[in-house]
Amino acid sequence: MFRVNEDYLKLPGSYLFSTIAKKVSAFSAENPDKKIIRLGIGDVTQPLCSAVIKALHSAVDEMADAATFRGYSPDLGYDFLRETIAKNDYKDRGCDIAADEIFVSDGAKSDSGNIQEIFSKDTRVAVCDPVYPVYVDTNVMAGRTGTYDSTTGLWSNVIYMPCTAENDFSPELPKEVPDLIYLCYPNNPTGASITKDALQKWVDYANKNGSVIVYDAAYEAYISEPDVPHSIYECEGARTCAVEIRSFSKNAGFTGTRLGFTVVPKDIKTEDGTTLHQLWARRHGTKFNGAPYIVQRAGEAVYSAEGKAETKQQIAYYMNNAKYIFEGLKSAGYSVYGGVNAPYIWLKTPDNMTSWDFFDFLLEKANVVGTPGSGFGPSGEGYFRLTAFGSYENTVEAIDRIKKL
Ligand code: MLT
Repeated sequence: MFRVNEDYLKLPGSYLFSTIAKKVSAFSAENPDKKIIRLGIGDVTQPLCSAVIKALHSAVDEMADAATFRGYSPDLGYDFLRETIAKNDYKDRGCDIAADEIFVSDGAKSDSGNIQEIFSKDTRVAVCDPVYPVYVDTNVMAGRTGTYDSTTGLWSNVIYMPCTAENDFSPELPKEVPDLIYLCYPNNPTGASITKDALQKWVDYANKNGSVIVYDAAYEAYISEPDVPHSIYECEGARTCAVEIRSFSKNAGFTGTRLGFTVVPKDIKTEDGTTLHQLWARRHGTKFNGAPYIVQRAGEAVYSAEGKAETKQQIAYYMNNAKYIFEGLKSAGYSVYGGVNAPYIWLKTPDNMTSWDFFDFLLEKANVVGTPGSGFGPSGEGYFRLTAFGSYENTVEAIDRIKKL
């Protein structure tokens, strides 16, 4: 009889968005006449922009010609893309990041789940609470989170940093020093953002204590305020303590096309001089055969003048939805947060309903799908997330239905 990795058996329930998808399918099967509006998972709805489509077509044509056909991609990414990213996302913002510190992948989700592999088993992990579930779940799979308390919803060996309305969704620097700190800004799920000065404090804290920050900046394209940094490398000293994860999913609609990257500066070292850079490169070489050539060409097109203008328009479209949701719910008496530098709106559930009760209520009474805050962690209880990634028409209809409840 086969035996399984017991750490996997410790994971409670199913993955948050799989649980929601199952509930929505069941409701839809029982109510085939109802139009369900999905503002749950943060999946984009606008088609890929024409600069990206053109690049895809032309890369596909190259694959049809023996002279330009490509087989395996370089496991760390094609230089044309790594250099384009280094210039546009980093050098042009005054950040000291070289092309060979950028590791191209098939998306931020896998990178944010895989990065923990290169840290020792007894690594102490700190996460915001609520948090994107991948960070905790993958550390559970790696066997470093201790035991789960089903009453509190907490793992014994994880340092939780609560983020609630009381602290403006900004976690305190932890008193107990973690080895690995996951930060996501603009934040999923609360939609909160961080100023450069506040982020600098995290960088200083990590450098002082020898911690590593995994900085998930998947939503950086949604930043609208000037004092909010687009990259952690805008902070002094981040090269010695921070890994940054980026995605093409939300800034250019690649959720189904798949492309992302992780920046691992060569200056993050262990005491004996081993660099995280060499280990992450080793991991990629062993476990990954590179993102597809055609998709990397599509990613490059996002940075063309046409691509930049078109994706800016898409982001403006979603942020207009965010504004509609925010203002609509506020006028209906809800306490609402986020939605200014992020495509997520975080709201307090009405009448002290639990997050899951509100999920059921909204699905049954308004046929609108959102995400229960408690699915992101115990401090998310009593909150609820709506995404701005729907079509404008559906967003308006959803909010109008909610207002009528
Ligand atoms: C979310 O809804 O939180 C995200 O879409 C999930 C993801 O990006 O993997």
